[in-house]
Amino acid sequence: MAISNPFKESEVLDIYKNKSMLKWIVLAVSIFISTGSILYTNVLVEQLKDTERRYINLFAKSLENTINEDVNLTFLTQEIIAPNTSIPVIWADADGNPIDTRNIEVDSTRGIAHINAQLKEEMKIMEDIYTPIPIQISDDNDFQYIYYKNSFLLTQLTTYPYIQLSVIAIFGFIAYLAFSYSKTAEQNRVWVGLAKETAHQLGTPLSSLMAWLEHLKLDNDFKDQALVEELEKDIARLQMITERFSNIGSVPVLNEENVPKLINTIINYLRPRISSKVNIRVDTISENIIAKINAPLFEWVIENLCKNAVDAMSGVGNLHIKVMRGSDYKVFVDITDDGKGIPKSKIKQVFHAGFTTKKRGWGLGLTLVKRIIEIYHSGRIFVRSSEPDVGTTFRIVLSTKL
Ligand SMILES: Nc1ncnc2c1ncn2[C@@H]1O[C@H](COP(=O)(O)OP(=O)(O)O)[C@@H](O)[C@H]1O
Ligand SMILES: [Mg+2]
Repeated sequence: MAISNPFKESEVLDIYKNKSMLKWIVLAVSIFISTGSILYTNVLVEQLKDTERRYINLFAKSLENTINEDVNLTFLTQEIIAPNTSIPVIWADADGNPIDTRNIEVDSTRGIAHINAQLKEEMKIMEDIYTPIPIQISDDNDFQYIYYKNSFLLTQLTTYPYIQLSVIAIFGFIAYLAFSYSKTAEQNRVWVGLAKETAHQLGTPLSSLMAWLEHLKLDNDFKDQALVEELEKDIARLQMITERFSNIGSVPVLNEENVPKLINTIINYLRPRISSKVNIRVDTISENIIAKINAPLFEWVIENLCKNAVDAMSGVGNLHIKVMRGSDYKVFVDITDDGKGIPKSKIKQVFHAGFTTKKRGWGLGLTLVKRIIEIYHSGRIFVRSSEPDVGTTFRIVLSTKL
């Protein structure tokens, strides 16, 4: 009796639809938060800039008044000029020679010429940012200038959101890697554990069956030899299944196998078991193509791919397997059917666990196939081409050495 998939087709497909939608939502929210935070900081920066500019104008005015000595000096010095402990300021004469500075670090151990050169360098930078504020000395047309730039705090605030967002992005990326790594590790444990357990569970009744078979063979009163032969075949098949599961559950041994020969053996086994209206052809450019293979697992792969192909053709059509040699010690196996094909939008999903379009499908066949080829054989498998109503080609890439 076939067990049907307890999930309805649409439910399983929805998992993938929702997953990709979730990705877009997360991306959109991240962009929204990032832009919002940058825009908000920019508003703060603009406000602070304005305050600093106004303050420095006041500072310049106060300085002008102090020089011209027409107001209360103590008040100006204490309330406006002295409290500037953050905005870098250079006060220079009309010819651009520095007179005094605030909040600028100079190396006082060096000579005056060196310090002046450093200050002039700084004035050039300041001039590019803000036009220096002129202050009038006495009543004649003698001017001096106040050069200034943003305070250290303001400069930091401008770059802060970018640094903050980069740190968050790096952290998010590392967290994502860690999560997906632990998810893969967990999936691996489930695969290996289940396979080992299955092999183990099958082992006991299997050895008992073999013992019973030997008993029957030796029983002279038992005349039905045909029955014994059928039993032997079924037991051999059970043994093969146990071997597959035990290979999946451990590190499988790879041997040098003749690929066309192995494939022909598998096809000869499959041929009487699938619809006679499927015409199977195996082509090879040479009878002697060797690759590193674990035979029981590779049989499983070919069986799965052929069964899918037959399903796609609804039991009528052509199945073509081609073995080729590639460069760099590669061997290609192409499995082509002229079935219903896979829509472009679904090609990426066929290898996902649980993806199926069949009423009684589990969507695990290709997941297993990919796992066997990529993890146990260090090879590759992909949909080489597929077109609705024309057919599909899966390509396996194996290596002749490891
Ligand atoms: N040769 C093929 N032609 C068309 N569709 C295919 C082919 N092989 C696989 N598929 C699609 O990929 C799905 C997943 O295949 P698989 O993992 O073997 O699971 P299942 O056979 O249980 O559905 C199938 O349901 C089918 O839609
Ligand atoms: Mg399948």
